[in-house]
Amino acid sequence: MKRGANIIMVKKAIIPAAGLGTRFLPASKAMPKEMLPIIDKPTIQLIVEEAVDSGIEDILIITSRGKGIMEDHFDKSPELERALEIRHEKKALDIIKEVSTSANIHYIRQREPKGLGDAVLYGKSFIGNEPFAVLVGDDVVDSKTPCTRQLIDMFEKYNATILGCQVVDRQNISKYASVDGVYVKENLYRVKGLIEKPSAKEATSNQAVLGKYIITPTIFEILERINPGVGGEIQLTDALGELARVEEVYAYNFKGRRYDIGSKQGYLEAIVEYALKREDLRDDFKRYLSKIIDSDLYKGN
Ligand code: UTP
Repeated sequence: MKRGANIIMVKKAIIPAAGLGTRFLPASKAMPKEMLPIIDKPTIQLIVEEAVDSGIEDILIITSRGKGIMEDHFDKSPELERALEIRHEKKALDIIKEVSTSANIHYIRQREPKGLGDAVLYGKSFIGNEPFAVLVGDDVVDSKTPCTRQLIDMFEKYNATILGCQVVDRQNISKYASVDGVYVKENLYRVKGLIEKPSAKEATSNQAVLGKYIITPTIFEILERINPGVGGEIQLTDALGELARVEEVYAYNFKGRRYDIGSKQGYLEAIVEYALKREDLRDDFKRYLSKIIDSDLYKGN
């Protein structure tokens, strides 16, 4: 365990990326949905960058059969590097070199997609006895301070599990876990309980747990004995709910624009908004968008 002045440092992250991705079929049949590009960067690379920018040093990606392409992506590419060197394409060369050197990335395969909780349990020996981040492979947050950094800052204040949350519309809460919490201060709640994918009626709040967490290692003991929950899967939410009964757990509303890349709508929103934020693409793309929106072809008549 690395410690600063009495602070336990969060230096490791698990990125679960072994799910079936059924919402994105047929694209996700042979290609992991975590490799879907946001313009020219695979989603999983944006997540690795967020972790590194937040001070994470070691990352474990949970993969599965047929998802080896993620390992290829973060590997060194000697042939490509040589070709770019010969052509003096320095910018492209720097870009691909950075992909393979920015973090220590390790991999393990989940044998069957038994749920997010099961995927996290595969990280038990990698993590050991330290607090760690979990960043799901299809949730991207664009923010000034990286989302994981915001959560680590909270962890360092409270020395307790922090769930990354945002308030969502009531009709959308059934896609997430909802927080039953006690107000601590602006944007921070002490968690009393969690409900996985509740109906709008069942939900205890509109505060949804999104795919970013800082968790204490006590979670592993719980994950090892917990029964399958919603959808017959080992739910991380159920284990976190149990954790909240034995340790303090907080829900923190992080700042930033969050995209669910695993859904078609979220993916489209991410591509359009990232294009509008990029100086090299913005002007032409904006012109194109306004032209196309006004065009009779796309008015649905
Ligand atoms: P999702 O809830 O998006 O599930 O998982 P999914 O199965 O991948 O996608 P759909 O719902 O069928 O479209 C959130 C994250 O957790 C990982 C996924 O890869 C995704 O990044 N996950 C999920 C695992 O690693 N293992 C699992 O068993 C389930």
